[in-house]
Amino acid sequence: MTTRIIGTGSYVPEQIVTNNDLAQIVETSDQWVRSRTGIGERRIATVEGTSQMAARAARRALEQAKVEPEAIDLILLGTSTPDYCFPSGACEIQGMIGAVNAVCYDISAACSGFVFALNTAHAFISSGIYKTALVIGSDVISKLIDWTDRSTCVLFGDGAGAVVVTADVKGIMGIHMRSDGKKGQVLTCGARTNGNFLLGKKPELGYMSMEGQEVFKFAVKRVPECIGQLLEETKVSAEAVRYFIIHQANYRIIESIAKRFKVDLEKFPVNMEFYGNTSSGSVPLLLDEMNRAGRLSRGDKVVLSGFGAGLTWGATLLEW
Ligand code: COA
Repeated sequence: MTTRIIGTGSYVPEQIVTNNDLAQIVETSDQWVRSRTGIGERRIATVEGTSQMAARAARRALEQAKVEPEAIDLILLGTSTPDYCFPSGACEIQGMIGAVNAVCYDISAACSGFVFALNTAHAFISSGIYKTALVIGSDVISKLIDWTDRSTCVLFGDGAGAVVVTADVKGIMGIHMRSDGKKGQVLTCGARTNGNFLLGKKPELGYMSMEGQEVFKFAVKRVPECIGQLLEETKVSAEAVRYFIIHQANYRIIESIAKRFKVDLEKFPVNMEFYGNTSSGSVPLLLDEMNRAGRLSRGDKVVLSGFGAGLTWGATLLEW
């Protein structure tokens, strides 16, 4: 038995913030951001939190899968921006959608969060522990951003995507995940757990900080390496893959990965122009867009890949 995606859904907030809007608050330009990243605009949450966005994406995925919330055994939410320290976002979502029989928890792997959560659900399903799961990536990264820091504020946006997965004879063909905690400080954000009662230190809120070039170098090296290993393990060639759905951080990263595999860029769909980097939301958001546009056919081989803070990176190969 393996794990098959039987429904997808997504949600983005209504409010659009363009590069030109950001040029009003930091020294940047539409031309700079587009040429360096491929990003033109992003959605920013005003009233929605991570769990609310996730629940909306989840409802759409359940509706498409024709699965009732009560049939869900497991809810995994990939996020690094939960609305609360506790309860987990996944538990909140359970309450919102009425998935009363599910066990629920969050997975913290930043922009790899969705892929790590999907692979974790696959481990449970393929071992027979659970049958049907809801896997979600949702982040409101806008809340962690220092909006005076032009090197990070132009890159990110808010959004969520979800999939319903169930045990089936075809679906996930292989997974690969890696982490490198020694390089964690190149992309980091302080938590409010840095206070100390005995030392009389109050917690301080931290903003995201990033060494952009280090993250870029990491992504263009590790992502193709990871996908390459996955393809080797599953004995599938890059040419046989219909689509590579890669975390939407930067168009130049995607171009570099396509070049490495010597496959046409047409196999690398993108939507970062409209949403920026939505962290854990990015891969399922694009997957849902592709699915609803009818671009995925039964039997297509698809690679999903995420990478981000931790450092973390991983991939999933599946047959649609
Ligand atoms: N607008 C205009 N200029 C900017 C800018 C902005 N938004 N951000 C940075 N710059 C400036 C820098 O200050 C620097 O100026 P200087 O030469 O006078 O010092 C110049 O542009 C070049 O900066 P650099 O950091 O070398 O640019 P870059 O080509 O590496 O592009 C990133 C910067 C952030 C777009 C790129 O490094 C990147 O995409 N890294 C990966 C980030 C990522 O994907 N993070 C998420 C991973 S999940």
